Amino acid sequence: MHSLPGEPTAPLETRSVFQTLPDPAFRLDRRGTILDLNAAAQAELQPGGASLIGRPIQDTRLKDIAQQVPAALERIASDGATLTIEYCVDPPATQTHYEVRLSALPAQEILVLIRDITARKLAEYALRESDAQFRVISENITDAFWIRSPDMREVRYVSPAFQRIWGRPAKTLYGAPHKWVEFIVPEDREHVVRTFSALTTVARSLDVEYRIERPDGERRWVRVRGFQVRDAEDKLICHAGIVTDTTERKLAHAELDATHKQLMEASRRAGMAEIATNVLHNVGNILNSVTVSAGLARSALGTSQAQGLRRAVQMLDEHAGDLGSFLTQDDKGRMLPGYLSDISKALLQEQQEMSEELEHLTRSIDHIREVVTTQQSYAGKAGLVAPARIGDLVEDALRINGDALERDGVTVIREIGAVPRARLDRSRILQILVNLIGNAREALQEMPPESRRVTVSAEVADGGRLRICVKDEGEGISEDVRTRIFAHGFTTRKHGHGFGLHSCVQAAGEMGGSLTVRSDGPGKGATFILEVPLDPAEPKA
Ligand SMILES: Nc1ncnc2c1ncn2[C@@H]1O[C@H](COP(=O)(O)OP(=O)(O)O)[C@@H](O)[C@H]1O
Ligand SMILES: [Mg+2]
Repeated sequence: MHSLPGEPTAPLETRSVFQTLPDPAFRLDRRGTILDLNAAAQAELQPGGASLIGRPIQDTRLKDIAQQVPAALERIASDGATLTIEYCVDPPATQTHYEVRLSALPAQEILVLIRDITARKLAEYALRESDAQFRVISENITDAFWIRSPDMREVRYVSPAFQRIWGRPAKTLYGAPHKWVEFIVPEDREHVVRTFSALTTVARSLDVEYRIERPDGERRWVRVRGFQVRDAEDKLICHAGIVTDTTERKLAHAELDATHKQLMEASRRAGMAEIATNVLHNVGNILNSVTVSAGLARSALGTSQAQGLRRAVQMLDEHAGDLGSFLTQDDKGRMLPGYLSDISKALLQEQQEMSEELEHLTRSIDHIREVVTTQQSYAGKAGLVAPARIGDLVEDALRINGDALERDGVTVIREIGAVPRARLDRSRILQILVNLIGNAREALQEMPPESRRVTVSAEVADGGRLRICVKDEGEGISEDVRTRIFAHGFTTRKHGHGFGLHSCVQAAGEMGGSLTVRSDGPGKGATFILEVPLDPAEPKA
């Protein structure tokens, strides 16, 4: 006789072990009849029911096990091995997964051990599902991504998008963890490698943009965001990275930059053109007065008393032989001395007038030369910073506007405070001042002569900046106009372009400064305030 675990005849200890096994266990004969079972099995197979001893296994929840019995017996007979099967009951609602182990007992009996593996199974399913999701994502997103071992030496995963960006199959990277460096353009290589090595040491994440070269020689920009992946205990599990192809964006940016530069240049030219317009305007006015002076001189010459003198001299010539009797007895001859005296007086006066006209002409020509020279000393030098006195710059700006201001009867008031000689962008400041003074003059045109005043002031403002104000008592600015006044192309003037103020704010910004406007409203004048950093030319002693 043999002693079997659950058999009533088995030794007491063996039976009690069998009974107290936490996992359900029972004994079957070769036809699938339950010979014995422990409490756990009774609870699992027929909770609260009558004892299953002597009942066929087909009557229980595990009825399918009956079909496994012949196979198990065959296996056991051939190699004595245990047959393990996994088994799911009541799918799909209250799914319970069992692991059922059938092992041989003597006399063709089978010991069945059951373990509930539902929790493990569900975890497995969840994992498989998330794995499937991961695959769907990684295969479909346009960004590429990779996973590397904690020491970065091993490439664990590279998504298919790698091929699209790099033009090489993702498998090039598996087993060749350093290969990716070769695909970086040489100029960017060092920087990128340094950034990546920080990820394994000090940095928890990285964000780097660099260029790669495809097999066909095409270069593309990529942005890589890499990060460490850590578990709940903060242990480093792996590194992962997401790669975005930023080539199109880069190109668009470059184009934007180029367009921006062109716009700036156009605006700078517009600003210079505004000065040129002022210069031409001034020179044109001066030329007008030159023409008038020259015309006056010419007509004066045409009607000159010199003609009369010539006729008198001719008469004297004709009477050279009897000059005495001609002057005393001839009617014409007797009038000659008086006539000569009148002519000489008129000639003197004529000479005086002519020399005044000539002086005016010379002055006008000098004035033209001055304006042109001033303009030339600034032209094309934007960005050149040189020591200068703000007072001199103000004078130059006034000179360029000079004639027009004078003609419109504008009084200019200068309030130049104690400002040290400073390193200034002369060209840009002049451009701004000429524009502001020109605008002030235009704003004064409709005003009564006694209020045609412009005040130009310069001082060191709080915070050590240089503040230059151009204030007029002209037509003023409404709130509506004020908000649009610096916009490119905004003008209310019949012959305006609306480029002036726009180019001025731009120039102010380029100097690290600002240009603002204040006005109490229509009819109340306006003040334009230019502020630029003050960088004294000589350090204070
Ligand atoms: N000092 C000022 N007082 C009143 N309005 C002004 C003054 N300066 C500028 N403006 C307004 O701002 C507009 C834009 O000036 P600006 O950019 O120089 O262009 P433009 O002189 O060609 O009109 C002017 O048309 C005018 O309406
Ligand atoms: Mg203007």
